[in-house]
Amino acid sequence: MCGIIGYIGKRQAAKILVEGLRRLEYRGYDSAGLAVLNNAGLFVHKSQGKLERLVNRFQSNRCLGNVGIGHTRWATHGIPNEVNAHPHYDSKRKIAVVHNGIIENFRGIRTHLESTGCRFRSETDSEVLPHLIDSYYKGNLLQAVQSTLRQVEGNYAIAVISPNEPTRMVAARKGSPLVIGLGADEFFAASDVTAMLGHTDEVVYVEDDEIVDVAMDGVRISTLSGEPIQRAATTVSWDISQVQKEGYPHFMIKEIMEQPISLRQSINERIQAGRVVFPELEPLSENLGNSDKINQVVFLGCGTAYHAGFVGKYTIEKFARIPAAVDMSSEFRYSSPVVTPGTLVVAISQSGETTDTLAAVRYAKEQGATTIAITNVVGSSITREVDVTINMYAGPEIAVAASKTYTSQLAVLSLFALYVAQLRQPRDVDAIEALLHDIEDLPAQVEKVLTQAATIEHIAKRYSTYNHFLYLGRHINYPSALEGALKLKEISYIHAEGYPAGEMKHGAIALIDEEMPVVCIVSESEVHEKMLSNIQEVHARKGRIIAIATKGDLEIETLIQDTIYLPQIHEFASPILIAVAFQLFAYYVAAHRGLDVDQPRNLAKSVTVE
Ligand code: AGP
Repeated sequence: MCGIIGYIGKRQAAKILVEGLRRLEYRGYDSAGLAVLNNAGLFVHKSQGKLERLVNRFQSNRCLGNVGIGHTRWATHGIPNEVNAHPHYDSKRKIAVVHNGIIENFRGIRTHLESTGCRFRSETDSEVLPHLIDSYYKGNLLQAVQSTLRQVEGNYAIAVISPNEPTRMVAARKGSPLVIGLGADEFFAASDVTAMLGHTDEVVYVEDDEIVDVAMDGVRISTLSGEPIQRAATTVSWDISQVQKEGYPHFMIKEIMEQPISLRQSINERIQAGRVVFPELEPLSENLGNSDKINQVVFLGCGTAYHAGFVGKYTIEKFARIPAAVDMSSEFRYSSPVVTPGTLVVAISQSGETTDTLAAVRYAKEQGATTIAITNVVGSSITREVDVTINMYAGPEIAVAASKTYTSQLAVLSLFALYVAQLRQPRDVDAIEALLHDIEDLPAQVEKVLTQAATIEHIAKRYSTYNHFLYLGRHINYPSALEGALKLKEISYIHAEGYPAGEMKHGAIALIDEEMPVVCIVSESEVHEKMLSNIQEVHARKGRIIAIATKGDLEIETLIQDTIYLPQIHEFASPILIAVAFQLFAYYVAAHRGLDVDQPRNLAKSVTVE
């Protein structure tokens, strides 16, 4: 996790670094720091806690200079305090480094360096980097970093500066994301493009085991052994307004409200003349359409992405009639899964950087599986691992809790299931058409859900003091219950459980009393009657019920006061509308509790450790 940034150019570096770190804070916010080069040498400024604290303690007059690096941390090795904050530097303050990743063999390196007289300050693995670079430094920073990286094991994205070479920055990556931004007379290095939006939209994605020499006159990429690499720049389509709150109190509510747009971007081009088109899947289409070639699908993801995969499993089984499974990436490769060359693995990851998902994909590939990634980040690590990437086109998501990227994942997965169904000559063409029609209509339907924000806020406010919630759903909306509960947990710190409603009487029903609100998904579906029975069971035990129902459901109207009504929609498209309602509910509960919605405690948006 952690976010890194580097700047070299003609402007004051500190301001640009702070602005970039603000956009990278979703990657971790235990501490922050920056280092700038100037005539006095290396100026380093760090602080425990969020970036704002660093900014408040800023002595801008001492922090002048046109070259600098910055870091925002999610602690792994060493507690989140000022000493462990990055940038780290060597004993002579001649080398400063920011690092995202883990140096696995740091203990051995540290012991050796200490035996040669190096004095370490922090408990971090990262601090070995500046000391080691210094030990190799013979007047050429690039060469010293190359030698260092040949010795370290683990993963990293780093940016390095030195007062010995005040017009140079060296950056490198292995396993952690790194993008170089190409401006007019200025260059950036960062964990992702959001950090440089507004300055440039021309970027170069750095690959593993590559090192980048950034000077005032340009950027040179090479391998660790020095062979030059030519890589064309890519133009980024995201724009700066997408990474600003634009009047909203939090990014999360802005991103919830953006869903009609993000869904349109995910869906529109992919439905043409009543058929699903995925040009990126063309190379796989023959195999996808042939049950002798692809005979099972496994969906993988973590957290919210896992819940999306769960919906994907139900949808592809129903419409394409392929045996499908879903697993959490973190469990998958340790459970001896049966993966064969006939297996298609669909890995879902908003960031494309989740370590567990990357590892699961690698495992599946070793077993001969075909692999597809569904991601929101162009050029992310997962795109390098898989056979084919499907972009979600949801636009940047800054709040740690996923909202618009979840609904885009669901939309893309539904379209993917229907695409495979089309290839397999389905018997029930009408059923496919009906779902496709409602998927196309989703942005408009989501708009209607969003108009109920005030009603949802009203309910959320009344329930914001409870400490436990149960979310019940069945079939395609069992994963919706899991996601609803996760959303509430992660931003409001309220204990919440998602549960299959039919399983309740086998244990969880014992929990129900007046102190345990139960959120019941009772929208129009095959299991509507069964959900009504479950509601009666909760009711009979004095449970407080919040229902999610379809507009016009008279039975619910007479039974439950706190109901959120959703527009009528195909059962297999309903998880998207339900997700939006649950996001609003969780958001308003957390906001009424006065919590930091965008940066919940202990979390980071991309989880790049196991
Ligand atoms: C979502 O609200 C969570 N913050 C989290 O569960 C997230 O979905 C998970 O870490 C997976 O991230 P990814 O999609 O970037 O792989």
